[in-house]
Amino acid sequence: MFSYRIGIITASDKGAKGEREDISGKVIAEAVKSLGEVVAYRIVPDEQEILAKTMIEFSDEKQADLILTTGGTGFAERDVTPEATREVIQKYVPGIGEVMRQESLKITPKAMLSRGIAGIRNHTLIINLPGSPKAVKECLEVIMAALPHGMQILKGQASECARKD
Ligand code: MTE
Repeated sequence: MFSYRIGIITASDKGAKGEREDISGKVIAEAVKSLGEVVAYRIVPDEQEILAKTMIEFSDEKQADLILTTGGTGFAERDVTPEATREVIQKYVPGIGEVMRQESLKITPKAMLSRGIAGIRNHTLIINLPGSPKAVKECLEVIMAALPHGMQILKGQASECARKD
């Protein structure tokens, strides 16, 4: 199987100040082990400019194939992860956000409160996950069903989708 370069960005004011342990980042690292290697990981404050710059750095310099963010997708004034993501992507991948919310709604009605998006910057897929470790686990479980195939297409490792599933 293919191995991908993975970047993890935790958006958390408290985490960036060292006032909160980043359990969600660790949950992501564990859940994506089968997809590849974590080549970049950072906890950043909920600042749109810093978030966007970190995504660009991970994509352009660290050559991450996949960037997973956690946190900053809700309604709080400082929740700006989707806005930062929108700034750096060229293509939207609406289905990923749709299916995370749709499946998560079966677990909690609060799932509708995440504004997380997904999109493609050059050859990097960027996905916003909500902030809590529980939400991260639930959302990753849903998207892992299609993520390996999506990554293969993105990286030009699979040219057609006519496989039986
Ligand atoms: N999605 C799943 N699967 N499970 C959850 O518990 N929590 C929700 C939502 N998405 C949740 C979820 C809640 S309570 C909020 S406020 C939003 O994600 C936004 O979270 P964030 O601001 O930490 O990104």
